[in-house]
Amino acid sequence: MTTQTAPSASAPSTAVASTGTAVTTAAPTRSSGAVGTSHTRLEGRAKVTGAARYAGEVPFAELAYGWLVTSTVARGRIRSIDTEPVLAMPGVISVLHHENAPRLRPGVGMMGPDATLQILQDDRVPHFGWSVALVVAETPEQARAGAEALSVTYDEEPHDVVFSGDHPGLYTPDGGIRGNTDMENGDVEAELAASPVVVDQRYTTPEEYHSAMEPHAAVVRWENGRLEAIDSNQGSHAVAQDLAKLFFLDATSVRVRSEHVGGAFGSKGLMRPHLILAAMAATVLDRPVRVVLTRRQMFSLVGLRPATAQRVRLGAAPDGRLRALDHEAASFSSTVHEYTEQSGQPSRVMYAAGALRTRTRVVRLDTPTPSFMRAPGWAPGSFALESAMDELAERVGLDPIELRLRNEPGVAPASGLPFSSRNLVACFEEGARRFGWADRDPRPGSRRDGRWLVGTGVAAAAHAAGTVPSSASLTAEADGAFTVRIAAADIGTGARTALAQIAADALAVPVKTVRVKIADSDFGHAFLAGGSLGTASWAWAITEAAAALRERLTLVDHIPGEGITARADTTDLVKAMKGQERHAFGAQFAEVAVDVTSGEVRVRRMFGIFAVGRVVNPLTARSQLVGGMTMGLSMALHEEGIRDTASGGLVNADLAGYHVASNADVPVIEVDWVDDPDTYNPTGIKGLGEVGIVGTAAAIANAVRHATGVRHRDLPIRLDRVLAAGTAIENGGAAR
Ligand code: MOS
Repeated sequence: MTTQTAPSASAPSTAVASTGTAVTTAAPTRSSGAVGTSHTRLEGRAKVTGAARYAGEVPFAELAYGWLVTSTVARGRIRSIDTEPVLAMPGVISVLHHENAPRLRPGVGMMGPDATLQILQDDRVPHFGWSVALVVAETPEQARAGAEALSVTYDEEPHDVVFSGDHPGLYTPDGGIRGNTDMENGDVEAELAASPVVVDQRYTTPEEYHSAMEPHAAVVRWENGRLEAIDSNQGSHAVAQDLAKLFFLDATSVRVRSEHVGGAFGSKGLMRPHLILAAMAATVLDRPVRVVLTRRQMFSLVGLRPATAQRVRLGAAPDGRLRALDHEAASFSSTVHEYTEQSGQPSRVMYAAGALRTRTRVVRLDTPTPSFMRAPGWAPGSFALESAMDELAERVGLDPIELRLRNEPGVAPASGLPFSSRNLVACFEEGARRFGWADRDPRPGSRRDGRWLVGTGVAAAAHAAGTVPSSASLTAEADGAFTVRIAAADIGTGARTALAQIAADALAVPVKTVRVKIADSDFGHAFLAGGSLGTASWAWAITEAAAALRERLTLVDHIPGEGITARADTTDLVKAMKGQERHAFGAQFAEVAVDVTSGEVRVRRMFGIFAVGRVVNPLTARSQLVGGMTMGLSMALHEEGIRDTASGGLVNADLAGYHVASNADVPVIEVDWVDDPDTYNPTGIKGLGEVGIVGTAAAIANAVRHATGVRHRDLPIRLDRVLAAGTAIENGGAAR
């Protein structure tokens, strides 16, 4: 996320300036001190000068251009595709469709068999915007003209794209990585029945779209018997593996590179249709082919965060201590593949409840297949849970921070495992002090500033921060430099720079002597830039390789021309890790102003303070956290994919209609972190790409409640919703 957060003219004034430089992490650095020091992005100059090439810009010789044609019905079968007139158009080389496209191996998918990858394989149309043909031409303009002229007719079938929490088709998913994680400790119903105070509320979040700046793009060619792709993705190794499987190739016959990626947020974690189509066309035509998705196509082909309908029930003693926590979450998936949004996740981690239950339901609709979007499960789940906790605080007359402190768990509530570290209390204490929480008048609707009602809100944040196997190599070059090779991805996070700092410290050399080569599947397996798993996992592999290299270097008196290389693979180390729960934590604070006449909500300031382990690069870490919070603000107030029930497509499949927070929406966001030593993974690093979005929407909704006396349980908090709900003033001071 690279959102600008400079104060803008139209944003109300902000009291807090952004620091971004405070580093209080206490974990030991290995040596030369690069880790923990701010460092600008190594590729920054290349990016701002345009020298950095993204996948859609790589100039292969003899390149042909593919333009995708997508379905205009939400369900049915393709009756006919009239290719003749299009093939006669200037420059058009080929039209690929289900009757002539190469056959793909079924059952392929990074997270289990995913039929979403089976494009141009049959005449079935499972949703509006599904891939139905690729027009290939000598220029992009000719391909586009051909695609627009292609006549496709359908036998339409009735569709259902309307999600609700009481849809009759909801069922319990039956397993798998993204499947059923239902759990119950204790007897939730009995504890709820016995609780003197019960909060029982429903919350909804809409369809949300990743909206990365760089569209999905790939250039593919056959080169010396290998299928070679430059693709915009989050994990070149995993994508190469899937591409090989899909095309019945050896893993060694496929190479995927993704040197620069302009944002992803989860949408580039899996292989996407543009790459499959480019590989199909390159194979059929024996010629390099480029496919770039349009913004509109990104709204139907690269995943989305599904809408959720959640019910949270909290049973508490009068002192606020939880006796029961029940979190039910429903979401939708496509008819093609089961993806489940795990919104119960925060409830399994956050609070000590006597009895705890999380349940997940999913319904299959005639929509695109959803997928991971920044903090999947955690982001929508935290909106429901952290709103409900705010409601409980009011019910028992406790400060919302005090309520959370009273319910701090000793061990992870669902699993019973110890936390590797948990410094959430420190986040709240330091955050309250820095934000000025003590000065807050808890009465809703009590603060007015002209036509604005002003309020503040708080919420907790957490995100899993695990470690997964990766491999890396390190070469001592004859010229005195060192080269890291790892199939990591830098999707705009600063990962490349962080890894250079890690390697520099592990080798006890200056950062400028380290070159980092990333995002090439030939470098061996490494986990994708996702799940807040990347940096911690990659850094471990690099430090292991560095240790091995340093040992080798003690045995030689000179470095040969080809250098000396050491490799490391952390697979066995990761397997041997002890059973602990590991999470990044945080406290989110927001101040909002609500215009009582227009219903407009402005966020005036936000402060997020996090426990994220050892911070490698304060500059880019801060950017990740600010970006996450910005995306959370956007989720709270703006983002909403609106499905047209008639066509089954999105009404607002562009960045004019799908509003992502822009500069004028975003005040100065202050971010800091507390000491969070953590030795679970020897690098001490916790991922922080996702925790920033968690809890932000709840903090804002809680602030809107404090400002207006009205609780908003449906996101986004649009002005029409604010107007319709009224305010405490219009409602005679009565809080609802
Ligand atoms: Mo992500 S949603 O961490 O790919």
